[in-house]
Amino acid sequence: MKKIILSGIRPTGKLHVGHYIGAIKQLVEIQNSGDFDKFYVMLADSQALTDNAGNVQKVRDNILEVALDLLSCGLDPNKTCLFIQSEIPALTEMTFYYMNLVTLSRLKRNPTVKEEIKLRGFEESLPMGFFTYPVSQTADITAFGTTIVPVGEDQKPMIEQAREIVRTFNSTYGEVLTMPEAVIPKTKAQARLVGTDGKGKMSKSLGNCIYLSDNEATIKQKIMGMFTDPDHIKVSDPGKVEGNVVFEYLNAFVKPDSFEKYLPEYKNLDELKAHYQRGGLGDVKIKLFLNNILQEILRPIREKREKLAQNPENVYQILFDGSDNANIEANKTMQSIKSAMGIDYRNIYSKN
Ligand code: TRP
Repeated sequence: MKKIILSGIRPTGKLHVGHYIGAIKQLVEIQNSGDFDKFYVMLADSQALTDNAGNVQKVRDNILEVALDLLSCGLDPNKTCLFIQSEIPALTEMTFYYMNLVTLSRLKRNPTVKEEIKLRGFEESLPMGFFTYPVSQTADITAFGTTIVPVGEDQKPMIEQAREIVRTFNSTYGEVLTMPEAVIPKTKAQARLVGTDGKGKMSKSLGNCIYLSDNEATIKQKIMGMFTDPDHIKVSDPGKVEGNVVFEYLNAFVKPDSFEKYLPEYKNLDELKAHYQRGGLGDVKIKLFLNNILQEILRPIREKREKLAQNPENVYQILFDGSDNANIEANKTMQSIKSAMGIDYRNIYSKN
């Protein structure tokens, strides 16, 4: 069986280090492994519009921002098909037929959508498009014959939903759609990076993000202002490591050579943690260590981003080429769907 990988990102804001460690880094690793037949990364602008109908400009502007973020992290259009969801008409068409294969009560059970509805205060004014986006996401996935979807934990219910629709479609109309599988990041530190304030997941609305596009001074300022252990007042006080934002970030970002380079008096993170817990290790020292590590990761990304941003038309061209490429596959699948359903009237009835 072919290995076809697809991931999607809603272009609603610039990407931050939480996106980087939770998703983008893995996407680049997959890309560079070359271990696939085809690799797609989709900018899910249509999905973003399901809760931004009055805010098209935000979505439009962030197509470029997110594309810049992805390309500067190492996504390479020669290896990855990077495309825009709304450029693929077959996706909307498929969605319409898939809607008939899922019930209202089934959609209501999706825990991620439930949570998102609450977060957005949509209880009284839920847009149908938002409510049904798991169906449209099934189209995104199946249109390309996707076998593997690398996503965060919160997207598991979407893949479950897609699998159910695939099963129903295939048993109703014949084996046309490929069964997808989710691949979830390995470690907890990667799956869910806390914000700099320690209050919850890094998110734009909470204002606790370090963006891939932040400059050196901003990054340092955000790190120096991080929440640590409120009871760790004097350097000599014993400190807590769990729930300490700086250590959460060190868990996620430290590399084997980080100590040798920036903090040679410790061998590894366990030693550093032990000293902090014992007392005698100040917050400034661990923050400066984290700053060195993050600056090393973010500097090349930022520099590449600044270069790419000078020619936005080249970035759009990459997206249009990717979309042309994606359209070829999606149209093929659309044809197979129509003929399986028996609504390919022109094949059945046309004279020539
Ligand atoms: N729902 C995903 C998110 O919010 C984005 C997305 C849209 C997606 N279509 C997809 C992810 C298809 C994987 C596959 O992150």
